[in-house]
Amino acid sequence: MAFPDQFILELKQNNPIDSVMSSYVSLIRRGRNCVCLCPFHSEKSPSCTVYLDSDPHFYCFGCGAGGDVITFIMKIENLDYVEAIKFLADRAGMTMPDEAKNNEASRIKARVLEINRTAARFFHNTLAKSPDGEKGRRYFAERQLSPATITKYGLGYAPDDWYKLSNYMRSKGFTEDELVTANLCGRGRNGGIYDSFRDRVMFPIIDLRGNVIAFGGRIIDGSGPKYLNSSDTPVFKKSRNLFSLNFAKKTDEKRLILAEGYMDVIAINQAGFENVVATLGTALTQEQARLMSQYAEEIIIAYDSDGAGQNATHKAINLLSEVGVRTKIIHMEGAKDPDEYIKKFGASRFKQLLDKSGGAIEFELEKCKNGLNVDTDDGKIEYLKRCVNVISDISSPIEREVYIGRLAETNRVNKDMLLQQVEGTIKRRINKAKNQEWTEIRTFQKQYKSNPDSYRHPKEFKAEVGIIAYLAANPDETEYVSSKVSPEQFVTEFNRKVYQVMLEKIKKSAFSDIHSLQSEFSADEMGKITEIAVNSKDVNINKTAVDDFINILSSSADNSVDIKDMSNDDFLKYIQNLKNKK
Ligand code: CTP
Ligand code: MN
Repeated sequence: MAFPDQFILELKQNNPIDSVMSSYVSLIRRGRNCVCLCPFHSEKSPSCTVYLDSDPHFYCFGCGAGGDVITFIMKIENLDYVEAIKFLADRAGMTMPDEAKNNEASRIKARVLEINRTAARFFHNTLAKSPDGEKGRRYFAERQLSPATITKYGLGYAPDDWYKLSNYMRSKGFTEDELVTANLCGRGRNGGIYDSFRDRVMFPIIDLRGNVIAFGGRIIDGSGPKYLNSSDTPVFKKSRNLFSLNFAKKTDEKRLILAEGYMDVIAINQAGFENVVATLGTALTQEQARLMSQYAEEIIIAYDSDGAGQNATHKAINLLSEVGVRTKIIHMEGAKDPDEYIKKFGASRFKQLLDKSGGAIEFELEKCKNGLNVDTDDGKIEYLKRCVNVISDISSPIEREVYIGRLAETNRVNKDMLLQQVEGTIKRRINKAKNQEWTEIRTFQKQYKSNPDSYRHPKEFKAEVGIIAYLAANPDETEYVSSKVSPEQFVTEFNRKVYQVMLEKIKKSAFSDIHSLQSEFSADEMGKITEIAVNSKDVNINKTAVDDFINILSSSADNSVDIKDMSNDDFLKYIQNLKNKK
């Protein structure tokens, strides 16, 4: 849908890109612009630039994400165009133009949120005061949850019945389709609907804005999976949310505790630690790791003490180190999970566990002993080999030295020997990485055959980009350019679409700059378009240059380059060259 230009202009003025972005990343001033670690891919040095000129926008040279403040919000908050506008309007206290409220997608989202809120209240009231809720009350009492905790988390109980919730919800005016979309009901073979959660204690999942976005339900007895979680809905994506982050983010603590499930989080929270979260029935994802890194400098992993928990810990350490947060790991003995530990030993002993938690390397080194008897020669040799592998992962030579020294001492082996082993391993890994690079190139070569577009027609590609950039800067020249070259003459499909949409927009006077295209393209595509604009900013494309570009596209000669016969080295240079030219 289209918004009045004036509205969009004011929206952008009221939401300066640097101020919006700085709630997600820390911006570093660089001359007139800013740079930051890109929030859309993991990296250790900043390759995302925020341009603060008359057309404020961002562009990441690492992953190609880019666009204006609206595109930024679309991507980072996972919203569509209209929702992003609404988000920014709310942020700036602006009222939305009327017609936007009728947008179908936002209407459904609002409905699902309303359903969730109503259902959460239904489950909670059932638990708190209905005769149906007796079983749930007994269950939580057994698990030693206080009434205050139950209220705080809005816990509930879904009755042992196929229709109680759906009947109630229908009486509140929600339709069957809406209830199915919200994932609270399923559709039976006879076409009717039934309640998805039955005879389960209910955990509402609440986002940072206080919306109930989904539910987890734990079985009390009977058959079926122990936990049932809402699958993804228009308002919920498992992989992007964390249970209890709404409470954890309110603390000033710079460290977060990461537990495995709902009950652990609630038990830890009830024991007085507000800064605890869990994933929602899946392994930790990169998105969740990044989300946590926005709130914490250090994360203490408090997963179950069993094998599965320790494997999950290992994976979480890797993901978290990629996003640049320190990890520590609690070492729990005598209980299978934090919930059980706190019940057995109390909150202050748990606090000691947190304070004593070790670093990631200690955890990995300790894990090397698994399944081995280190008192035998064989066991010790295998153990040391595994340790060498772990130490070879450490990027800082000083840190490596420290761990090697410690390992040599406790196992009474020669330090230089260990050092040699580590260096050898590192060398072998570098070679392996190089080989891998070549494999990638060969794969690329193969793909080239099925997806020739920009690589096959480098000259045309450059010409297309030039024309688009020229038009973006000089919309007045549209008539001239469009009379000389038609969209059909564009060789690469994406650029053809961009050109076509630009011409249409300019004709309808709906084009002010490159960002006017964003209602027609996805956030990722806007990244590519912004790349075009960013890269051609410094090269002043004049009319002569454009005429050349037009000639390239109009001439029927086939300028495509044949890479079939190139050597690997030539090919590598060729790709590099293209990348630089683009
Ligand atoms: N989980 C799930 N589906 C299952 C089992 C577990 O989604 N069938 C997820 C849930 O989010 C759960 C977490 O994995 O909270 C941890 O599972 P588990 O350790 O088995 O449960 P606990 O948290 O110990 O729960 P409880 O103490 O209630 O048994
Ligand atoms: Mn448990």
